[in-house]
Amino acid sequence: MKKIRIGVLGAYRGTSMINYCKSSEDAQVVAICDKCEATLAEQKTHIDDPSVAFYLTFDEFIKHDMDAVVLANYANEHAPFAIRCLNAGMHVFSEVLPVQTMKEAVELIEAVERSGKVYAYGENYCYIPSCYKMRTLYREGLIGEFEYGEGEYVHNCESIWPSITYGESEHWRNNKYATFYCTHSIGPLIHITGLRPVSVIGLEGTNIARGLRTGQKGGSFGIEMITLENGGIIKSIHGGLYNNSIWYSVYGSKGRMETGREDGEGIHMLYTHSDEFSGQYRPDDRRDYDMNAEKLDKTVPFGHGGSDYYSMYNFIEKLKGNAGADTIDVYEALDMFLPGMFAYRSVLNGGMTMAIPNLRNPEERNKWRNDTFCTDKKVGGEMYVPPFSQGELDIPESVYAQMKALWERELESKSGYMNAAFTQGAAEK
Ligand SMILES: NC(=O)c1ccc[n+]([C@@H]2O[C@H](COP(=O)([O-])OP(=O)(O)OC[C@H]3O[C@@H](n4cnc5c(N)ncnc54)[C@H](O)[C@@H]3O)[C@@H](O)[C@H]2O)c1
Repeated sequence: MKKIRIGVLGAYRGTSMINYCKSSEDAQVVAICDKCEATLAEQKTHIDDPSVAFYLTFDEFIKHDMDAVVLANYANEHAPFAIRCLNAGMHVFSEVLPVQTMKEAVELIEAVERSGKVYAYGENYCYIPSCYKMRTLYREGLIGEFEYGEGEYVHNCESIWPSITYGESEHWRNNKYATFYCTHSIGPLIHITGLRPVSVIGLEGTNIARGLRTGQKGGSFGIEMITLENGGIIKSIHGGLYNNSIWYSVYGSKGRMETGREDGEGIHMLYTHSDEFSGQYRPDDRRDYDMNAEKLDKTVPFGHGGSDYYSMYNFIEKLKGNAGADTIDVYEALDMFLPGMFAYRSVLNGGMTMAIPNLRNPEERNKWRNDTFCTDKKVGGEMYVPPFSQGELDIPESVYAQMKALWERELESKSGYMNAAFTQGAAEK
């Protein structure tokens, strides 16, 4: 069978998807685009295949003959590129996040519906084997009806901030509000239960000293208290608290299950305590997670506990026509993201409960078609809001100059973060 031809926009985190294609019998990278010459040049040194084309601009890149595009560009700029790819007849695999405004959400959904192409959201944490096993157990009814769950994605990125923002004061990571980057903590719980979020209350961490040192303009961490369509409640927390934590739990009407803690057995461990099914699952027994573990080439560095492999694997299987392929569609992607967006609206409204629109209903879309509420000045226009609820923060240019100098030093010495992406599972952040 002919291999599926993939283009990758964003050659930094995009390394993970490029690695996937290198190890796949079904897909091949044919084009790579990044506007940063240094990043593109570094990527070239890791590609053996002379037929791969390299582009500095998306306008040139999109003309390349491709079946699908992986979007690993800035997290707040995925939707416009996704829409252009769908309109040009290509399938899309989008990194997190799906959109940055409600206007984009409506436009993205309608572009997917019009095109009939596959849109797969790359929320890889759903495919962490322990999280995926939780989904299987839940869908088999062993935990009962969902009543409560928690998701944590806490990552202190202070030490790698120069490598992930390059001294760009307007980089999305510097402009993000506390509840923006929410789908690693919310996503797995949505994917486990399949339930739609209907309302949210948001909270913002206001001890911002660590963030200010590196140029971050938003709150230090975000919390979403989400009510689902069945009345169940999710608590999600994410952001830059001092020590990291990735952890999930689900309480159902027949019992409970949770992953291991960062300081104990870690995310790969799964503990269940329910009427019909109790036990502990070993982290290394991937066969138990029924997701083609035998296909996981252990010589290729797949980050985030191997989940980077499974999100791409399911996308490629979907394109091959495998009916069992489990991808995250555009509606589910928004179920994972809108709670974070509406949580910030809640923060700005003193903690008020905000209803989450159901954009599956075409009638509900009209109200949001022109809504550009976001913290990106280029896109927000009159609906621009500052990333911090207490107002615009005054961060000296010297902070960004220092971040830039550190990034340049790292590039020059070929050390640190960028280089690590090629050896240790691309971009673990
Ligand atoms: N799922 C995960 O675990 C995970 C981990 C890391 C990053 N990410 C996501 O991956 C994406 C990329 O993140 P990143 O860490 O690589 O950093 P990033 O967001 O700074 O960089 C994206 C890359 O895209 C390039 N780029 C941006 N706009 C472009 C344009 N218009 N044309 C060409 N190139 C452009 C930049 O030069 C940069 O190299 C983000 O969406 C981020 O949220 C996800």
